[in-house]
Amino acid sequence: PQEDEKQMIQAHELLSKFYHHLLLNTKEGQEALEYLLSRGFTTESISKFQIGWSLPSWDFTVKFLQKRGYSLELMEAAGLLVRREKDQSFLDRFRGRIMFPITDPKGKVVAFSGRSLHSGDEPKYLNSPETKIFNKSRILYNYHESRTIIRRKQQVILFEGFADVISANEASVENGVATMGTSLTEGQIGLIKRLTESVVICYDGDSAGVEAAFRAGNLLLNHHLSIRVAMIPEKLDPDDYISKYGKEKFQQDVIGASLTFMAFKLRYYKLNKNLNDEGDRLQYIEDILKEITQLSNAVERDYYLRYLADEFHVSLEALQQQLADIKGSMK
Ligand code: UTP
Ligand code: MN
Ligand code: MN
Ligand code: MN
Ligand code: MN
Repeated sequence: PQEDEKQMIQAHELLSKFYHHLLLNTKEGQEALEYLLSRGFTTESISKFQIGWSLPSWDFTVKFLQKRGYSLELMEAAGLLVRREKDQSFLDRFRGRIMFPITDPKGKVVAFSGRSLHSGDEPKYLNSPETKIFNKSRILYNYHESRTIIRRKQQVILFEGFADVISANEASVENGVATMGTSLTEGQIGLIKRLTESVVICYDGDSAGVEAAFRAGNLLLNHHLSIRVAMIPEKLDPDDYISKYGKEKFQQDVIGASLTFMAFKLRYYKLNKNLNDEGDRLQYIEDILKEITQLSNAVERDYYLRYLADEFHVSLEALQQQLADIKGSMK
């Protein structure tokens, strides 16, 4: 019960400090530290985000926890240990991984994600399972740490990954949180709404990221939040972009140049279409008209109708007629 959860959190807090120490101050952590520095992470952000290193050992964490009097069954329930099938002995879940501590909205470490150091070592990120203290759908990475800045700026930036949040921080974009690769949940939207009504989605520039941004944006719209989308070119992710083009360009050309959700959709529906093809062009016009029916603001509706009329040389009357037909068929 309550006491168990306290122990689980305490163990995470202790381990997070120890993993961090292993990364920064020991020979065992050296390769991982060099990898992080070579990616461009600074020691300041490694400390700020308490990044760590778990030893490539089967039982380092088992012994660490045992020595401090924790029940190993409880630590298995906390996701820190797993059991070997054949003899039910306890093993470390995280072995030889770069450790990212994940905090709950109160700032307590309740889970880890461990990144493999060598490509090909799957999964790339190994996560704590769902536990009594870790309900993934109600957690955003860096939420507790950034909440004051999010309130002050009245804006949150939504990223996919750990590295994106951390690199953005180094670029002075400190109001970022991450969904950690999964699709945005109602619980996470609830967390956001406690702080702000305004969200900038800054997902990876690959097609998976663009699709996820489309879905997340629509979900946020259902919850009446104000949405912008910051798009990353060349299929890069925010962290790659910052490494390649630098902090200023990220601030100005990505975050500063974010699109309204509707402007994003105008681009989104063009993907995989050839607008020189008549069929594709008509489909595109229909896609956008459907989106226009969803707009609550009359001026906005008028604006995008005129945009379509100009762009595709069709009359406003024809567009208005088709809009009415679409509305009729949607009932
Ligand atoms: P990405 O595949 O985009 O990884 O997944 P990344 O954040 O760019 O990682 P780097 O730069 O290679 O280190 C985005 C997020 O999805 C989650 C993680 O939270 C990751 O940051 N993820 C990804 C997992 O949970 N497991 C995985 O195996 C991969
Ligand atoms: Mn705190
Ligand atoms: Mn990705
Ligand atoms: Mn990525
Ligand atoms: Mn990345």
